[in-house]
Formats: sequence, structure tokens, C-alpha cells
Amino acid sequence: MLLNKKQKKIIAIIGLGYVGLPLAIAFGKKYNVLGYDINEKRIKELKKKKDNNLEISKKEFTKSKFIKFSNSEKDLLRCNTFIITVPTPITKNKKPDLRLLIKATKTVAKNIKKKSIIIYESTVYPGTTEEICLPIIEKISKLKLNSDFILGYSPERINPGDKTHTLEKITKVVSASNTIGINKIKKLYQSIIKPKIYCASSIKVAESAKIIENTQRDINIALMNELYQIFDKLNIKTNEVLKAAKTKWNFLDFSPGLVGGHCIGVDPYYLTFKAKQAGYEPKITLAGRKLNDGMPQYIYEKIHQNIKKQKINIKKTNFLILGITFKENCNDTRNSKSLELCKIISKKFNHVDIFDPYIKKNFTLNTRINFLKKIPNKKYNVIILAVKHSFFIKISFERIKRLMKKNCIFFDLKNTFTDKN
Ligand SMILES: NC(=O)c1ccc[n+]([C@@H]2O[C@H](COP(=O)([O-])OP(=O)(O)OC[C@H]3O[C@@H](n4cnc5c(N)ncnc54)[C@H](O)[C@@H]3O)[C@@H](O)[C@H]2O)c1
Repeated sequence: MLLNKKQKKIIAIIGLGYVGLPLAIAFGKKYNVLGYDINEKRIKELKKKKDNNLEISKKEFTKSKFIKFSNSEKDLLRCNTFIITVPTPITKNKKPDLRLLIKATKTVAKNIKKKSIIIYESTVYPGTTEEICLPIIEKISKLKLNSDFILGYSPERINPGDKTHTLEKITKVVSASNTIGINKIKKLYQSIIKPKIYCASSIKVAESAKIIENTQRDINIALMNELYQIFDKLNIKTNEVLKAAKTKWNFLDFSPGLVGGHCIGVDPYYLTFKAKQAGYEPKITLAGRKLNDGMPQYIYEKIHQNIKKQKINIKKTNFLILGITFKENCNDTRNSKSLELCKIISKKFNHVDIFDPYIKKNFTLNTRINFLKKIPNKKYNVIILAVKHSFFIKISFERIKRLMKKNCIFFDLKNTFTDKN
């Protein structure tokens, strides 16, 4: 598969999701790349230059001239650099679920040879790469770290829906099992990333750096959510307090909100798992998680109180929820707190409509929730603007106002319009 005959490097990207595909496309502009995924449907769509995650355009696919997509393991045999970007979710008990990572590691281990480079990009707790993955690689491949192959870890900072902080425009942290490795891995990423490559002092440091980036964000949002609940009791508008406080040079710019998805709401559990293993009982990290996880229920109760206050007939109350993805400008609904809110509302109310411009296909949650393909022309008692999609900003608040019945309760969870109106 040497499409680029000048390059001997054949890079396999294992797992072509939100992280893996942009990486494969970027490397495929220069190197021979094998985009490997176990999901046959995903491979079929990628072969047609279609990304259902909406991260890569047809034009970007075309620019990546040296890429091939495959779900056949035997294609990995020709590769000499392996980058693993598979999901690292949590179990129902909120413990790290490393099954996919281990499966991908075994696949790679069966296909590496001497002088291979293996880099992990999946988010993991400190120690996973060297304590969990490395022994599997050595056992299956019968090769030895550093003398036969190099191990590396480079956390991913991709932000779905964000077209500014894309892979090639942000600083990338790299780490490796030895000095030769760090130089090779640095050079590899430097060839596709314009800004800085930061070399972490060890693999564990790089793993930890990633996990605290999201943990820090989670806790800061949790603090804002707590402040929101305090100010609500005091009848003070949080957004006005934040506007005033932000005039101080070192006040951090966070706002209350729903924390979902598979990074910010998940990564802190990876850290706390490892902390507990090491004998430390985390305090604020888990408290922040609990507070953020409780926000859909809190918002529901607030809505319910308002409905009662307005004396709207509960049986006849109809809801419109705008935005069901876990964050703005992307179509990912995994662990979406907005969806969780829809489910809570639908347990008590019969008429719940949902609309999200990023969700094109029919979406079924339960029979009490009605999925709309277009923004409706109906009027509602309660409207919740749950996700700050640029689509809503574009159609303007005037359009949303046309959906409101008299005395409509409008919840602008992300202050999309509240600051301006
Ligand atoms: N999505 C983000 O915003 C983001 C940002 C930074 C880091 N991360 C981390 O990157 C990793 C990947 O996340 P994602 O959002 O890209 O996941 P994703 O769910 O979008 O995609 C993962 C892909 O891996 C494939 N896969 C699963 N097991 C495989 C295997 N054994 N072999 C080959 N392919 C396999 C799946 O079919 C899927 O297509 C996770 O650890 C995540 O925490 C994600």
C-alpha cells in the first residue's frame, strides 16, 4: 500500500472516531496511512469520503492522498507505526472500562515487528500505557521495549464542533519510553502540526496532563453550577454576577452548564480510580462530578416549580427542547445531559418535542418524546434552549420567540440569548 513511494513509513491509526479520523487525514497528506476500524459500517462510509461525525469535509478527505481505510486486520502487517485512538469509557459503576483499549492493544501486538513505534492517544489514567498495555504487547509480540520497539503516549485535545482549535493548530504533548523514541515521535507530529510540540518528561506525566485538563474544567464548571444554585436561592442572576466578576483580570471565565459527553464527564473518574488505588480518597474531584451529574434533575425541579407558580395546567403543558447533543455544533449525543433532562421531563409530562439541527435521522428515546426534523411552527408553554448551537444564534431570538405561548417559560441554559435580551 505504498501510495507515497518516497515514504517508507506506514502509519496505522487504530479507531477512526472523533480523534482517530482527523489524525489519519492529517498524516495521510504526507505519509502512507492505514485507517483501521473494527466497525465495517464506519469503514464503508469513510471509503466514500463521508464522515457521519461531521468533523471532516469531502475536501479534506481529498487532500489526504495517501490514506486507505480498512477493517481487515491483515492490512496492519505492513505498518510500522501504530497510533491507538479507541474509546476509553467508564462502566455503569463509573470505573475505567479498558476493554476496547486492551482489544486494540492485542491487535497491534499481533502485527508489530522490530523497530515499530506504538503511540497511544486514548485518554487513560496515569500508568495505563506502561502497566496495562506494555505487558500485553511484550507477551503477544515476544518483542522487548526499547530494544525492539518504542512506546509513546500523546494525548489528544480535539474538541468536536470546534473549527478553530483543530489538530494541526494546537500544541501537542508527546512522550516516549526512551530518548530515541521521544525524538522520533516529536519529529513525526512536528511534520503535521504547525505550533509547538511539547515533550513531557515521561509517559505517566503525559497521561496525567491529559486527565487533569478535563478534571480542572469539570471542577470549574461544578463550582459555577453550585454558585448558580446559591444565587438562585438568593434571587440574584448568576450571569449578571459573572459579568461583573469577570472584570477582574484573574477571574476565570467559566459558566454554569450541563457537562456530558465522553471526556469531561468521564476522565475525572479515571483519575479518581487511580488515586483510590494509590490510597488517596479524592474529595473535590468526585464532589464536582456529583454536582455536575445532578444538574439535569436540578433544572427539572426548577422548571416544575415555575410551571406550578405560573399555574399552567400540568396535563396540557407542552415542552420544546432545543438541542440534544452533549455540546454545541456537533452531532454526538453520547452521555448528553440535555437528553437526560428530556427523559426526566418526559416521565412527568406528556407533550415533549425535541429539535436539534445536528440530528438528521429519526431519534427515538421513548414514546412520550416527539423528535422534530425541522424547527416547528407550533407554540409552547415551556421552551428549553439546552445547547448553544450556532444554528440557534443564526435563526435569532426573534424566531424562538415566535414559538412561545403567552407566559411561556423560557430556559436559556447556556445563556445563548439571555445576556443580550
Ligand atoms: N472525542 C473527543 O472529543 C476526545 C478528545 C480528546 C480525547 N479523546 C479520547 O480519545 C479516545 C477516542 O475517542 P473518540 O471520541 O475518538 O471515540 P469514538 O467513539 O468517536 O471512536 C472510536 C472508534 O474506535 C473504533 N474502535 C473501537 N475498538 C476498536 C478496536 N479494537 N480496533 C479498531 N477500532 C476500534 C470504533 O469503532 C470507533 O469508530 C478516547 O480515549 C477519548 O477519551 C476524545
